[in-house]
Amino acid sequence: MSRKLPDIKPQTPVSSFDRTSFRGVYKRFSIEEVAPAVGFSPTFIRKVIGNKSSLSVDDVLSLLDQDAFSETYIPRSKIVEYLLSQSSDPYVEVLPDLSGEYALEEQDSLSFLRSLPPRSVQCVVTSTPYWGLRLYKGAVDTDWADGESSPYGHEQTPESFIRHTSEILREIHRVLKEDGSVWWNVMDSFNTRTQIRGNAVEALRAMQGKDKRKWSEHDCRRYSAGHAYLKDGEQCLIPSRIAERASRMGFFVKTVITWAKTSTLPEPQNSRVSRNLEYVLHLTKVRTPKFSKKVYRKLPAALGGRNNGWETDKLSDVWTLPTSNGRDGHGAQFPIALPGRCIALSTEEGDVVLDPFVGAGNSGVAALALNRCFIGVDVSAEYLETARRKLEAAKVDRDKLPLEEVPEAVETETPDPLG
Ligand SMILES: C[S@@+](CC[C@H](N)C(=O)[O-])C[C@H]1O[C@@H](n2cnc3c(N)ncnc32)[C@H](O)[C@@H]1O
Repeated sequence: MSRKLPDIKPQTPVSSFDRTSFRGVYKRFSIEEVAPAVGFSPTFIRKVIGNKSSLSVDDVLSLLDQDAFSETYIPRSKIVEYLLSQSSDPYVEVLPDLSGEYALEEQDSLSFLRSLPPRSVQCVVTSTPYWGLRLYKGAVDTDWADGESSPYGHEQTPESFIRHTSEILREIHRVLKEDGSVWWNVMDSFNTRTQIRGNAVEALRAMQGKDKRKWSEHDCRRYSAGHAYLKDGEQCLIPSRIAERASRMGFFVKTVITWAKTSTLPEPQNSRVSRNLEYVLHLTKVRTPKFSKKVYRKLPAALGGRNNGWETDKLSDVWTLPTSNGRDGHGAQFPIALPGRCIALSTEEGDVVLDPFVGAGNSGVAALALNRCFIGVDVSAEYLETARRKLEAAKVDRDKLPLEEVPEAVETETPDPLG
């Protein structure tokens, strides 16, 4: 049975940084551990504190006083406390057994990532929970470095969601190979008063007036009052803020890709245009990662090749792809073509692909079809069961998706108005 989650009330907490409480505290930190927490490159840190091999608490405080400071995965007031609390004990790190070509892990993604060896994954492709948008089966609380404990995507403020996303990305930076790629599909949220539902079908029923429940009778609601600056009805700008933090933590933001959907839900709002897009952040550790643009022309559309009628042979930063029909019990899936394109562009046969929020397993289906090894993680046993069925079927049907040149008559997935 699904657990009842609390309502979301995006009230920004009043808290400030008390630098006096750290006077006289003695400990030294490496520049590498401080850099992602303060959001500065090691070079800039040396520019501020001089050419030292390690940093004192006072050095960290002087970094927090810089005009250029901006939060990554810990709020400013908690950074010193956080650094002081870190143990130097290494985690036990093992790559799952991939002799069967894939592994599915029922775990909180952050804990799982900590168990992976450094530089063990070539590509991460995922669609994360979006902030305050969906109720997923089997939600668990994650203990975050900022001291909060909440299911990912169900934070009280967009800022907490952005911090938690940054914490996951920081761990991904550790496990990604030097020439690897991260493809992070995320959609923005609006700061509105709304019911939080399980899937798009429920949302559409509500728009059609078929949901007769009163506001108070819904399982979970999101409110809009109390934020430090976001007004009711305003767009939160979450994807671009995640991209900036990824950059501050050492990633190259290669491209912010727009996924223009070929069909979307109708939207009842009268004061703004309807939303038709999501984002895919392409993040890497180096300027020139493993990347081959020319495979795009050889891919079948079902695996991310040109979506005929919508796209040309020029692979740009606008990807016009269908939404998934989501008919196998998971209400927030991306189409196989999306992870397929990402995987094909940035990996080779045999490489390890990871989806830390695998849901119904579409990224895994794409990975196996392209002869890559795959690791999928999710907190829901039910979604993982769906994923396992699809991955087993993909192993059998793989040959039906040959990587050959596909000219005109390619079947695309039928656009689905409920995506
Ligand atoms: C947007 S869905 C992913 C859908 C997937 N791309 C697909 O096509 O089916 C996000 C998934 O993240 C899972 N999830 C939520 N919190 C998680 C956590 N802390 N660790 C691992 N998985 C989590 C949810 O159960 C859900 O299946």
